[in-house]
Amino acid sequence: MTLPPAEHTAEKAGAVPPPGCPAHASKGPGGATRLYGPAAETDPMGLYEALRAEHGPVAPVLLDGDVRAWLVLGYLENRDVASRPTQYSRDPRVWHGWRSGEIDPATSPLVPMIGWRPDCVCADGEEHQRLRGAVTAGLSQFDHRGVRRHITRFAHQLIDTFCEDGEVELVGQFTEHLPMLTLTHLLGMSDESGPRLVHAARDLFKATETSLASNAYVIECLEQLVVAKRSRPGQDIASALMAHPAGLTDEEVLHHLRLILLAGYETTANLMSNVLRMVVTDPRFRGSLAGGQMTLPEAVEQVLWDEPPLMVCPGRWANGDTTLGGRQIKAGDMLLLGLAAGNVDKAIRPDASTPVHHNRAHLSFSAGTHECPGQDIGRIIADAGIDILLTRLPDIALAVPEESLSWRSSTWARHLTALPVHFAPRVPEGHDVPNPLPAPPAPSFGPPSAPLWPSPGPGPARPSDQAPPPGPVPGGGATGGASGPASEHGPGPRATWRTRVMRFLRRR
Ligand code: HEM
Repeated sequence: MTLPPAEHTAEKAGAVPPPGCPAHASKGPGGATRLYGPAAETDPMGLYEALRAEHGPVAPVLLDGDVRAWLVLGYLENRDVASRPTQYSRDPRVWHGWRSGEIDPATSPLVPMIGWRPDCVCADGEEHQRLRGAVTAGLSQFDHRGVRRHITRFAHQLIDTFCEDGEVELVGQFTEHLPMLTLTHLLGMSDESGPRLVHAARDLFKATETSLASNAYVIECLEQLVVAKRSRPGQDIASALMAHPAGLTDEEVLHHLRLILLAGYETTANLMSNVLRMVVTDPRFRGSLAGGQMTLPEAVEQVLWDEPPLMVCPGRWANGDTTLGGRQIKAGDMLLLGLAAGNVDKAIRPDASTPVHHNRAHLSFSAGTHECPGQDIGRIIADAGIDILLTRLPDIALAVPEESLSWRSSTWARHLTALPVHFAPRVPEGHDVPNPLPAPPAPSFGPPSAPLWPSPGPGPARPSDQAPPPGPVPGGGATGGASGPASEHGPGPRATWRTRVMRFLRRR
């Protein structure tokens, strides 16, 4: 960032936060607030509000390694940045930090989030349209009823594995599995890939010592998928990306498969965990659902407003000098979309406790040309999965004190680590896996023999760039398509889950 330190720390007159506030507790060099570390991890919403009080709608912050950026807190300012791609680029190579030495691309943990990759997230203008066109064609080929049928099948299979036990940890055994099973299926992978990929993708996000091996495993699976689909296409996302007139290279196909898997998995799992936590901890929320004052899709939307699965979205880079929220933004500065902060901006939501009902104008899927193309699929997975869970186990109740629930946090998102519940044991309903087409051989851990994935290194320079920025960190058979012939193993006639929850609540 090219701002002088004085401006980066400037405080608005009369808006100085009291001692002990999260923004002051986490100041870094130059006095700017760190968006990482204990304060950001324990109380991110408190930190955003303290920043808003101190700086207004756009605040100077520090990322891991004390890398400087602007956090956009205002709702309108977020929409403005997301909707003006000529002013605010999505291409990280615009950032001046690559050239100023502010970051060491070889070691910085920020590179997976802000490094350049040959995918639609990192592209602007016509190149973005080319790549995004292929992605939306791949995602929109499935009719929603077909997708829902597969989610239904996977949800019943998962519930069958624990319904006799009378207790389950919902994050580890349900919400982290259902999105991955669904997404791997839509991508064109065999159903058997799901559980192993869940493990690898979870590990990849946790940045453990085995994360690199997990990343290699995910990539190896996707490489094998590309090879398999080149010779035998099906009705799946991988085949659609390859067949699209945009003419994606194998490398681009791989990057987009990985993008869809990772962008769609963690966010949808978070959304499901957050909705289910509300169901088991907030009697009013559960009561509104059970009593019909709030439908399940409305409950999902409420949680999208209040607890966005991605709280901070990286990033945009200023194409030229400009002003935003009263701040002087310099060419090449990095901006972060504060989705969670924007959603509770008093300018548009004076009372955050008022139910949002059908209002979908939140920022949780971002806005503008990069707005999430998978949002309908994310919503259907959450909606259908939770509906089935509550129908089969309407009496689920939190099995631990609410205060003992904990989160794993980063600058970007917050994940509930566990949601233990208990319920009356029930017999499994026997939901079989319909026979998928033959799957490709299961990959083993370790680097692929002939990698299609690029090695780490500089990405291609934009024509106007002086020096190249860093590139990315290195890193089935299809079922015939989600809208294929019906293979529903849905349950027989039963009371709706709402009726069952009502009965349960009345009994209590
Ligand atoms: C509740 C679930 C989800 C949430 C909250 C979410 C949120 C987001 C957000 C905030 C962005 C960034 C947009 C930007 O940079 O301005 C994004 C992009 C994207 N998401 Fe999602 N997403 C979800 C589910 C999914 C699913 C299920 C898929 C795929 C099936 C998906 C695929 C993508 C892709 C491909 C992009 C990049 C779009 C582009 O750059 O043009 N997402 N998502």
